[in-house]
Amino acid sequence: MNANVAASHPPASEVDNAYVHSLDCQYVFHSWALQGSLDSMVIAGAEGCRVWDYVGRSYLDFSSQLVNTNIGHQHPKVVSAIQAQAASLCTISPAHANLARGEAAKRIIAKAPAGFSKVFFTNAGADANENAIRMARLYTGRSKILSAYRSYHGNTGSAIARVRRFLELEAPAV
Ligand SMILES: Cc1ncc(COP(=O)(O)O)c(C=O)c1O
Repeated sequence: MNANVAASHPPASEVDNAYVHSLDCQYVFHSWALQGSLDSMVIAGAEGCRVWDYVGRSYLDFSSQLVNTNIGHQHPKVVSAIQAQAASLCTISPAHANLARGEAAKRIIAKAPAGFSKVFFTNAGADANENAIRMARLYTGRSKILSAYRSYHGNTGSAIARVRRFLELEAPAV
């Protein structure tokens, strides 16, 4: 335990923008950023296409975060599905069979083009790309992977290698 860091938190009613911002600056390491000059926007909550901070300033979320909240923040169906699943089983290792995972896979296959029969669930986008690259190489027996110029594919080894040329030639030195 780090004796210099008190584990206590202020009551929820006393949390404000400054407190959340200071926690972020002191303890959170952000990806792809110069840590010392970061000034992250504080978000306290969200609903639909809006996000807000602790003084009630509200913003339209044109980014949909990482384009992953296209149906809106806190959609009631999403919230209640997460609550119901958490109440019955919060986590399960990849080795087991599980109703939620099986049904999700079946629904994805029902929407997928002809020829697809199974879903490989990964933890994140970089993980998905990493495995896709490995599968493509195994299947084709070839090694070259093409990617769009200045594209982004995640922060794992193979995913970073896809943008290496841009990073080497043009990105500002960090
Ligand atoms: C196009 C694209 N590919 C891959 C990734 C990596 O996803 P993750 O951060 O979940 O690993 C991102 C994340 O922003 C992305 O936008």
